[in-house]
Amino acid sequence: MDYSVLAPAATSVETDCLILGFRAKRKLLPEASRIDDSLDGLLGQLLKRDGLEGKPGDVLLINHLPGFASQRILLVGLGKKDELNPAGYRKALAAAARVAHECGARQAVSLLHEAIVPGYDTGWAVRQAIELFEAAAYRFNPLKQEEDDKPRRLHKLAFPCLEADPSTLEAAIRLGQAIALGMNTAKDLANLPGNICTPAYMAEKAGEIAKHKKLKARILNESDLEELGMHAFLSVSKGSEQPAKLITIEYNGGGKAKPCVLIGKGLTFDAGGISLKPAANMDEMKFDMCGGAAVLGTLAAVAELDLPINVVGLVPASENLPDGRANKPGDIIKTLQGLTVEILNTDAEGRLLLCDTLTYAKRFDPDIVIDVATLTGACVVALGRHPSGLMSNNEALAADITRAANTAWDRVWPLPLWDDYQEQLKSNFADLANIGGSDGGSITAGCFLSRFAKDFAWAHIDIAGTAWKTGKDKGATGRPVPLLVQYLYDRSSNP
Ligand code: BES
Ligand code: MN
Ligand code: ZN
Repeated sequence: MDYSVLAPAATSVETDCLILGFRAKRKLLPEASRIDDSLDGLLGQLLKRDGLEGKPGDVLLINHLPGFASQRILLVGLGKKDELNPAGYRKALAAAARVAHECGARQAVSLLHEAIVPGYDTGWAVRQAIELFEAAAYRFNPLKQEEDDKPRRLHKLAFPCLEADPSTLEAAIRLGQAIALGMNTAKDLANLPGNICTPAYMAEKAGEIAKHKKLKARILNESDLEELGMHAFLSVSKGSEQPAKLITIEYNGGGKAKPCVLIGKGLTFDAGGISLKPAANMDEMKFDMCGGAAVLGTLAAVAELDLPINVVGLVPASENLPDGRANKPGDIIKTLQGLTVEILNTDAEGRLLLCDTLTYAKRFDPDIVIDVATLTGACVVALGRHPSGLMSNNEALAADITRAANTAWDRVWPLPLWDDYQEQLKSNFADLANIGGSDGGSITAGCFLSRFAKDFAWAHIDIAGTAWKTGKDKGATGRPVPLLVQYLYDRSSNP
C-alpha cells in the first residue's frame, strides 16, 4: 500500500473513503465535527439513529453522500477521552481497516490521528494505522489454486497533517512502512510449510533480502559448522534429511560502531525428535522458525530505514525429526564453548542451536545480543499469548527493550533469571542437562542460555505464545519485528 501526508485537512476531501473518529456519547473529533457542520449535522444524526455510542471498534459506514466531496465516510468509535489506551486505539484501527478494505474504496484519507492516546504522539498514531491497515490486507495464498476472497482492497491511505510541519508524520510513515515490510517478510516465510521452508530455503531467502546495498549474507554449511565445533547445533538435525545452515546477515550503516547482534531460532520443523511430540497441532511446529524469520524481517526493515547503526542477524536453521541417526535421550554432546550437555529430552532442541550461536556471536564483538525464540511451551502456560517472555543478564538492556516493546505495542513481560534455578540443570554425566524439569520451564531454558552469554549484555525473548495465532486465524503474527525495529530505531536516535 501507498501512504502519504496531505496538506492540512479541509472540509472538502476528495477521496473514496474519509475515515473520521468519534468518542463516547457520539462526540465527533474536532476536524470530524467541522465536516459534520458542512453536512448539516448528518453524521451526528446517523450515529444517533443507529444507536452507536462510540466504543472503541464501533464503526458506521456511510456509503453514499450525494454532493459531498468524499464518496463515503467511515465513522470509527474511540471510547472515552481519558480512557483511550493503545489497546483500544488499535482495536479501533483494526475495525476501521477491515471495513475500509472491504467497502470497495481504492483510496482513503484517515483523520483518526486527531485522537491522541495519552503518552503517545500523532506520529505513533499514524504508524500504528499503517501496521493495522497492512495487517488487515495481509493474505497468505501462494499455495491455493482458488483464492478465498476477492482482493477488494485499498491501495492508498493518506493522513492530513494537523500541524504546520509535516516531517513528524513523514517520519512516522517511513517507520510504519518499514515495520510492515519486516512483519510481512517474517509472516510470508513463517506461514510456509516445512516441506517448502527448509533451512536451505531460509538461507536462500536471506540471500534475496541481502540484495540491498547495505546488507550482506553469508551461509555456513554443515561441514563449516563441524570444523568450527558447533556440535550442539549440528546434533539437532542428525535425524533430518535437510542439512542445517547457519545464516549470517549483516547490516552496515554505522561505520566502525560495535554491532547489535540479533539471533533467531530457525527450526523449520520441530517434531521433537526421539522425544516425539504428540500429534495434536503438531503442524504448528512449522512456526518454530518464527524467531529466525523475525530476525530476517528486522534486517530488511533496518536496511529500508537506513539506520546509522550496525546490526548482525544470526539464524541457526535446522529440523528436529526422529530417525536412526537422531539425538537420543542420554546422549552427551560438546558445545562450541566447550561445556558438555546431556540431552535428556531431544525436544528441548532450541537451546542446543542457540547456545552455539551465542558463542559464535562473540566473534562480532557485540555491543548487545538479543535472541528471539519459540523456545518453550511453558512460556505460553505462564504468560498466555499477549506478551513475550523477557529474560536478561543486563538491567539497562532489559529496560530499553521493555520501553521499545511498549512503544511498538509488541509487549514483553519479565521472568527472573536467578541463579537459584541453575540447580535444576545439573547433570550426573555432563556439565549441564538440556532440561530442568517441569518447574519454571521457560526460566530454566533462559538459564541454560545464560551459561553461554556471560561475555556480553544479552536478552532472551521467548516468543512461543506471540509468534503465531492458533485456531481459526492460524498464522504467523510477524512479532517481535515491531519490538526489534523499535529498539534499533531508538538506539540510533540516542546512541
Ligand atoms: N518449539 C518448542 C516450544 C513450543 C512448544 C513453542 C509449543 C510453542 C508451542 C520447543 O522446541 C520445545 O519443544 N520445548 C519443550 C521443552 C521441554 C522438552 C523442556 C516444551 O516446551 O515442551
Ligand atoms: Mn522442541
Ligand atoms: Zn522447538
